[in-house]
Amino acid sequence: IRPRVIFSGIQPTGIPHLGNYVGALRQWVQLQHHEHKDTKLIYSIVDLHAITTPQSPEKLKRWKRESLAALLAIGIDPERSILFYQSSVPAHSELMWILACTASVGYLSRMTQWKQKLDLAPNSHMEDRPAESRLKLGLFSYPVLQAADILVHRATHVPVGHDQQQHLEFARECVTNFNHAYGECLIQPKTITPPVHRVMSLSDPTSKMSKSHKLARSRILITDTPDEIRLKISSALTDSIHGISYDHVLRPGISNLLSLFSIFDAEKRSPEQLAQAYSDTHPRLFKDMVSDAVILGLQGIRTRYIELIDSETHYLDHVAADGARKALQSAEETMDMVRTAVGL
Ligand code: ADP
Ligand code: NA
Repeated sequence: IRPRVIFSGIQPTGIPHLGNYVGALRQWVQLQHHEHKDTKLIYSIVDLHAITTPQSPEKLKRWKRESLAALLAIGIDPERSILFYQSSVPAHSELMWILACTASVGYLSRMTQWKQKLDLAPNSHMEDRPAESRLKLGLFSYPVLQAADILVHRATHVPVGHDQQQHLEFARECVTNFNHAYGECLIQPKTITPPVHRVMSLSDPTSKMSKSHKLARSRILITDTPDEIRLKISSALTDSIHGISYDHVLRPGISNLLSLFSIFDAEKRSPEQLAQAYSDTHPRLFKDMVSDAVILGLQGIRTRYIELIDSETHYLDHVAADGARKALQSAEETMDMVRTAVGL
């Protein structure tokens, strides 16, 4: 039997926050330990996806480097996993084009995320052009590039959250369309559903922690200083109910803090156990203890991140080049078959 190939990607849109870490990146690290040694792990910093919305070139360049350093800092091992910038492997774009030629416009326009973008497209300059004219083709065809990312490496499994299910379904549709037109060549990827834990915003605990929230104190970045973490947690929105208890509906703020506490608790207690242990604690003191746990939990990541980003050596460039070389090789094996199948 063929070994498993797992692919996942992250956009270089700044230092990951705790939601990204808990909801996605932490699993990337764990797969390195839990998967069989023959399983190929492929992780991409998807810079071509990042430019589907306007980016300053300087910022994108910095964010790519910061993302690479952050992934290494959380424990991605470039000897175990292929870690690379998407744009350094042109086969991603080449396969995207080939897939686009058998992809249905109707299917793409029915995708939820596109429909949301259509509804939300800001009418910033009092433009009266309809959203369809303001939105860009790259954003519309984003799922085709995502499909290419997965299929070009012959991924058998893709860890995806709920918000991405539809995109994986589309990738499978691309395989069906391509294989129907040119013969069995591409592989149907399966979903690995990661244990979903949503980290909620500190300032609005009924919505998820997100980089798009305007308040910076609504999220904790994995490289925040101890002071920043303490300040953000101490100003987190909670309630005036006495004591500490775990109830997502009645007490979303306190429950979110209990979840964060649990994730980083040295004694590995569940949120419920923590709620019991600290039931009579004053909220201010409780926030201090949550801060201590999060600070301690992120300390190693922060130290390694600073070392990597400040390093005078070309270690990051070396990792990127090495990853690109391995990813190119993985992609070319597929592209040889694809080009032959299509007659290119
Ligand atoms: P953001 O919402 O900050 O824009 P992305 O949409 O870029 O984050 O998500 C990147 C990855 O992180 C996805 O796999 C997503 O499911 C996960 N993720 C993002 N925010 C959270 C959160 N608050 N809790 C859990 N997982 C999250
Ligand atoms: Na998002």
